[in-house]
Amino acid sequence: MTNGLSQGRYTATAVTLHWLVALGIFGAFSLGLYMHELPLSPQKLKLYSWHKWAGVSIFLLVTLRLMWRLRHRPPALPAAMPRWQVRIAEGTHHLLYLLMFAVPLSGWLMSSAKGFQTVWFGVLPLPDLLGKDKELGDLLQQVHMLLNFSMAGLVVAHAGAAMKHHLIDRDDVLTRMLPFLAHRGAKK
Ligand code: HEM
Ligand code: HEM
Repeated sequence: MTNGLSQGRYTATAVTLHWLVALGIFGAFSLGLYMHELPLSPQKLKLYSWHKWAGVSIFLLVTLRLMWRLRHRPPALPAAMPRWQVRIAEGTHHLLYLLMFAVPLSGWLMSSAKGFQTVWFGVLPLPDLLGKDKELGDLLQQVHMLLNFSMAGLVVAHAGAAMKHHLIDRDDVLTRMLPFLAHRGAKK
């Protein structure tokens, strides 16, 4: 295959899960930064709860996504792509999967260590993963932030690469992950 187009596209399930999780992460990330800056108030505590519920929901969605992904191979990348770019793309995807688990897990661990149990949507109490330990809680807060900024950096590179494929290489790598845009590979 030499026309820069790959074979096939992501299925509707893969596309839906990709964008649902991405949307959730953008929301939880912005809310996390916003709420962190607020002075202590009932409003701040309410936003912390919403953030934790959203984070746990994302964790569950990512679990579903990974289970689904392990049973469904993604479409092959365009054959014209150099080997090193394929390796970087695959490595980035693996790291993103890892961080999509590590970020919410670090939040859950932090809340446990700080002694604030997570009650999902105010209904389902989740077990505390650690005993109360203020120092460990503060450390895990740093870890949560560090993992978040690592994920944000990777997402920027990942989205930049997708735009490069679309605008410079003019292949179908972006369109096959988009629900509405015409699939370049479908033309002709
Ligand atoms: C993908 C999911 C998540 C994302 C993207 C995310 C993102 C963030 C961000 C960007 C911050 C602000 C960091 C800072 O400035 O210190 C934050 C803070 C926080 N996150 Fe998350 N988070 C996620 C999941 C969770 C989960 C599952 C929990 C707990 C169950 C959680 C608990 C917290 C808490 C308690 C803070 C406030 C820390 C503080 O200011 O004391 N997060 N999160
Ligand atoms: C929080 C945000 C995001 C995360 C965590 C994320 C994560 C991922 C992961 C893990 C994959 C691999 C899918 C698989 O093979 O199972 C993927 C694929 C893809 N993502 Fe994202 N993504 C995010 C945002 C974006 C954005 C903003 C864009 C576009 C501007 C984008 C474009 C793509 C494309 C085009 C693919 C398919 C790449 C290929 O065909 O190999 N993603 N994404």
